[in-house]
Amino acid sequence: MTSSGAARTIWLTGLPSSGKTTTALALAEALRSRNVPAEVLDGDELRRQIGGGLGFSREDRMENVRRAVYVAGLLGKHGVTAIVSLISPYAEMRQYARSTLPLFTEVYVDCPLAECERRDVKGLYALARRGEIAAFTGVSDPYEPPANPELTLRTDLYTLEQNVQRLLALFD
Ligand code: PPS
Ligand code: MG
Repeated sequence: MTSSGAARTIWLTGLPSSGKTTTALALAEALRSRNVPAEVLDGDELRRQIGGGLGFSREDRMENVRRAVYVAGLLGKHGVTAIVSLISPYAEMRQYARSTLPLFTEVYVDCPLAECERRDVKGLYALARRGEIAAFTGVSDPYEPPANPELTLRTDLYTLEQNVQRLLALFD
């Protein structure tokens, strides 16, 4: 936190099933146990709650990001660390978040596509490979890896605990 009381946004970007949600929830828990107020804005939940009308076209993904940035900004203004876990596949979207939010930290949740696909947490890769989901990130829709993230977390090489420790170090 800064002296003005504003809090940062931790922005987790990565492929489907890369570990964004798991990492976000664990970080939030770790921060709260250190008395740092934190809230998770996760793609699935955001879409359920305030995703009215949004699909997965580039425009809709951009609008999804815009809504998340808006809420993260409100939280941050009042000292709540926002942990945003969204695929946010295009560099342009993340640049928008970076230039809009006063305290922005981009974290690449990095995991090879083959491992994400092996995990296939929701079974969507399988559906996408069968052509039953259009524009699925990593299969039939692009993912632009961050060129210069503040932090990269490999979720296939390091444990959740190790990755949360690295995230917590950002708050020292
Ligand atoms: S985005 O691109 O940032 O707007 O995506 P996000 O809001 O994070 O939503 C991603 C989750 O939605 C599920 N899902 C899809 N993802 C990508 N492409 C398509 N077509 C799609 N359809 C559904 C998917 O399970 C994502 O969940 P995570 O947790 O990222 O694996
Ligand atoms: Mg998720």
